Amino acid sequence: MNLVFLGPPGAGKGTQARRLSEELGYIHLSTGDILRNAVKRGTPLGKKAKEYMDRGELVPDNLIVALIEEVMPEEGGVIFDGFPRTVPQAEALDRMLERRGKKVDLALLFDLPDDTVVERLSGRRTCPECGAVYHVKFNPPQKNEVCDRCGSKLIQREDDREDVVRERLRVYRDQTSPLVDYYRGKGILITLDASKPIAEVYSQVKRVIDAKRD
Ligand code: AP5
Repeated sequence: MNLVFLGPPGAGKGTQARRLSEELGYIHLSTGDILRNAVKRGTPLGKKAKEYMDRGELVPDNLIVALIEEVMPEEGGVIFDGFPRTVPQAEALDRMLERRGKKVDLALLFDLPDDTVVERLSGRRTCPECGAVYHVKFNPPQKNEVCDRCGSKLIQREDDREDVVRERLRVYRDQTSPLVDYYRGKGILITLDASKPIAEVYSQVKRVIDAKRD
């Protein structure tokens, strides 16, 4: 199945997508992770994307769609995490999948109130080497500020500053939330309560996927 993970910044899309891909073998495509990697390596895409990301704005659709065209696998179920983020991106994804005889099977909306978003993102720590994600309170590493998986020193994402988070929330409301109606109109939108603890949200996700399979 092909799954779209939709929701405000910090809703837990990446956390759930990583676990699902480890346990069920889905291919996890996170446009945020791909872009951050491109910025780190100083590629032409990274140089163009950085200024938008630092301001909390969306990277232009044409760059994102070209990026997804490049990395879209021919085989296997995919979790699209953080993509699409605009209606034109969603339409482009539908066309890309259709050419491969596939479609988006489910769009999962991770629903979370704004004040919880700020609490989640201000406490988030990420590993710059392996991409693992932690939270100082809700999902702390065993050793303070050190990645459990690879031992690297954890960092705080530049766009997790409160002023940038507020801008990302505004952008989400204006440009991404219309996708809720887009997928509802196709009859494939499922809303999850993302304010629950990580394990409970994971159970909700699994239940929805299992129900769709049956
Ligand atoms: P991106 O990286 O996609 O950011 P985002 O959508 O804002 O999502 P986040 O990664 O911030 O949050 P998440 O929902 O994955 O939450 P997480 O699991 O980390 O995009 C960054 C930027 O790239 C954009 O602003 C834009 O500029 C650009 N971009 C990316 N895609 C684009 C596109 N398609 N088009 C244009 N531009 C694009 O969890 C957050 C924290 O909460 C963590 O600390 C975690 O441990 C904790 N946590 C998770 N779940 C729970 C829980 N249930 N309970 C308690 N804590 C939890």
